[in-house]
Amino acid sequence: MAKPTVIVAYYSVYGHVRKLADKIVEGLNSAGNVDVKLYQFKENLPEDVLAMFKAPPQDPEVPFLTPEILGEADAFLMGIPTRYGSMPAQVKAFWDSTGPLWSTGKLVGKMGGFFFSTASQGGGQETTALVSLTNLIHHGIIYVPLGYTHNNLFDLSEVVGGSAYGAGTVAAGDGSRQPSVKELEVAEHQGKSFAAIVAKYHS
Ligand SMILES: Cc1cc2nc3c(=O)[nH]c(=O)nc-3n(C[C@H](O)[C@H](O)[C@H](O)COP(=O)(O)O)c2cc1C
Repeated sequence: MAKPTVIVAYYSVYGHVRKLADKIVEGLNSAGNVDVKLYQFKENLPEDVLAMFKAPPQDPEVPFLTPEILGEADAFLMGIPTRYGSMPAQVKAFWDSTGPLWSTGKLVGKMGGFFFSTASQGGGQETTALVSLTNLIHHGIIYVPLGYTHNNLFDLSEVVGGSAYGAGTVAAGDGSRQPSVKELEVAEHQGKSFAAIVAKYHS
C-alpha cells in the first residue's frame, strides 16, 4: 500500500515559521511512514509594502501550494505567522481559492494541523489556531491538535512558544529572537506524532 502523503505548507517573511517547518519535515520523515512534501503560500502583498517590511524574497526552491496539490494529499500541517491574532492574508487567500475543493467535498476526511509564530508571548498563537479551524470544519477536515504531548510545553524556565494547538516560536517585535532548541524539539515532535496518527488512520 502507498504511504499517505503529508504536505507541510508555510508562510514566512523573516524565516521563523520556515525554521519550524523544516524541523516538522524532519519529524515527519523520521519514522518513514508517510511521504512528505514542503510547499509555501504565495506572497500577495504589493512590492512597496514588502519593501517597507524589508521582506526578503520567497525561497525560489520551494513550490507554491495550490488547491489542486492540497486536494491530492492525505494530510497537511500549515505554518502560520500571526497577524493581529489571526492568519495572514496570504493563507486566507489560499483558503478562499479552495471553493472547487469544497463544492466537490475533496478535502472531507483529510487530516490537518497547524504551527505558529508570534512576535510576543500571548500574541495570539491559540487565537490563530481557533480562527483557522473554521476552514477545516467547513471543509470536513479532521483537526489533529498537538495536545500536551511534549514536556517542553510545560517548561516555565524560559520562553517556549507553542501550545496544545501546535508548535510555535516567539520571534520578538523586531524578529531578533530565533526558534529555540526547545521550540524546535516541539516542532520535530509534532511532525513525528502527526505522521504516526496519519499512518495509523490510513492503515
Ligand atoms: C501586520 C502584522 C501583524 C502582526 N500581528 C501580530 C500579532 O497579532 N501578534 C504577535 O505576536 N505578532 C504579530 N506580528 C508579528 C509576526 O507574527 C511575526 O513577524 C512573525 O511571527 C514572524 O514569523 P516569520 O519570520 O516566519 O515571518 C504581526 C506582524 C505583522 C507584519
